[in-house]
Amino acid sequence: MTKRIKLGVFEMMNPNNGMPTWTDPRGRGDEWDNLEYWVTLARELDDAGFDFLFFADTYGYATLEGSMPNEVAAHGIQFPALDPMLAIATLARETENLGFVVTSPTTVERPYAMARRFATLDRFTAGRIGWNIVTGSSQATTDQLFGVTEVLSHDERYDAADEFLDTCLRYWEHSWQDGAEVRDRESGTYVDPEKLHAVEVAGRFQRSRGIFAVPPTPQRTPVLFQAGTSDRGRAYAARNAEAVFIQGQTIESAAVHVGDIREQAVRNGRSAEDVSVVTGMTVTVAETSEEAWMLREEYENLLGLDDAAVMFAGITGLDLTGIDPAWRVVDLKTDLGQTLVQRYAKQDPDMRVGQILDQFRTKAIRGFQVTGSPVEVADEIERIVDGSGIDGIMLEPTFGGTAAYRAFIELVLPILAERGRTEDLQGEVTLRERFTGAPRLAQSHRARTLTARAADDHHSIGAETNES
Ligand SMILES: Cc1cc2nc3c(=O)[nH]c(=O)nc-3n(C[C@H](O)[C@H](O)[C@H](O)COP(=O)(O)O)c2cc1C
Repeated sequence: MTKRIKLGVFEMMNPNNGMPTWTDPRGRGDEWDNLEYWVTLARELDDAGFDFLFFADTYGYATLEGSMPNEVAAHGIQFPALDPMLAIATLARETENLGFVVTSPTTVERPYAMARRFATLDRFTAGRIGWNIVTGSSQATTDQLFGVTEVLSHDERYDAADEFLDTCLRYWEHSWQDGAEVRDRESGTYVDPEKLHAVEVAGRFQRSRGIFAVPPTPQRTPVLFQAGTSDRGRAYAARNAEAVFIQGQTIESAAVHVGDIREQAVRNGRSAEDVSVVTGMTVTVAETSEEAWMLREEYENLLGLDDAAVMFAGITGLDLTGIDPAWRVVDLKTDLGQTLVQRYAKQDPDMRVGQILDQFRTKAIRGFQVTGSPVEVADEIERIVDGSGIDGIMLEPTFGGTAAYRAFIELVLPILAERGRTEDLQGEVTLRERFTGAPRLAQSHRARTLTARAADDHHSIGAETNES
């Protein structure tokens, strides 16, 4: 059967979106902090039938040995930035069907506050919200900004993320029984107290006790995205995520990640289809192949080596300019982001440090690079999806502004639609329905084995829950 491709867009609320494009006339250097810019983008994506608009985000910025390198400020390397979550209510109001996914780290926020904000957005967007769960990039900086005194190791941060999510799930899924919100004027009952359950968590990383203040929302739990494909990150995704965001590099390496995540999901009592995988992708398309390749060459020359080194250090904590270029990449160790280091180590076990920057400079954190005429691009997207098992793509803007999306919408989307690759969902649907067909978490999701009180948890999938 021809697989339909979920369509998203990968954005950050900063001047550059990860490549130094703010000075370019095609960029958004003067517009990124204007809400109207995002409203216009959201409307265009909504009209074109995209499934979702995704915001990467971090509280931090790149630092080296505790300080911000000059390049970060001077060249706007993922800095400065606004909080995308605060734009979602407006973007949802100005669109009809588009979903929104917001990245929020488990290392900075507290579960109850996060659960409340996402639940509020689920109400205001009528179920069009997703949460991209990350343990967080720029970890060294956020630890400083938030005065963190207990610095956790890489894997401990994921352990803490497990407890964080479980606490949120207890509030979203188990604090209110269905039907608790009666709003009955005659009896004078707003909420049936018998149908409320106090959450009780006293874990290693999280402590929380009480009743959720937000009534159940269309999806209850936002669609659970996850990003971070280290070994521990994939294990986390297989247990928890409904959609995993990867930056696929080759069909082969993406297929290995997709296969591994799905296998682990099955071992966790879920079915392979319970986890969708979406990849970042930069599409450079023009009427002719030659024009497209000229554009590609142009933006590949945007990022200088120093900027690339700073960006790499911000994510991994590794300053490559201070490491012997002849060192093998497999010997690099980091307690911050491992996905990026493993990407190069797995690509070629003999790769040297000196080679990373050359490669990173041309594409930074981006995923698949697809370039060519409209038909060439459509063919390549189909090859990637069919060859890797990936379920969707998230487009990255080449020069920062909306031109790349418009080119895709005008030139590529009609071809994919004609080939039966796009989904044409009618009417208002929740974001989860776009992924799983149902507005609520699947019965096989681990959330169903949880209860309001951690001490009462069921230990098998499919156990009784509070819901009808
Ligand atoms: C494709 C991708 C996108 C990511 N986007 C973000 C993001 O927007 N914000 C953030 O704080 N972390 C983001 N991360 C996650 C952090 O890099 C990750 O939590 C951290 O590096 C530790 O996990 P890891 O070792 O599994 O990579 C992303 C990771 C990947 C692979």
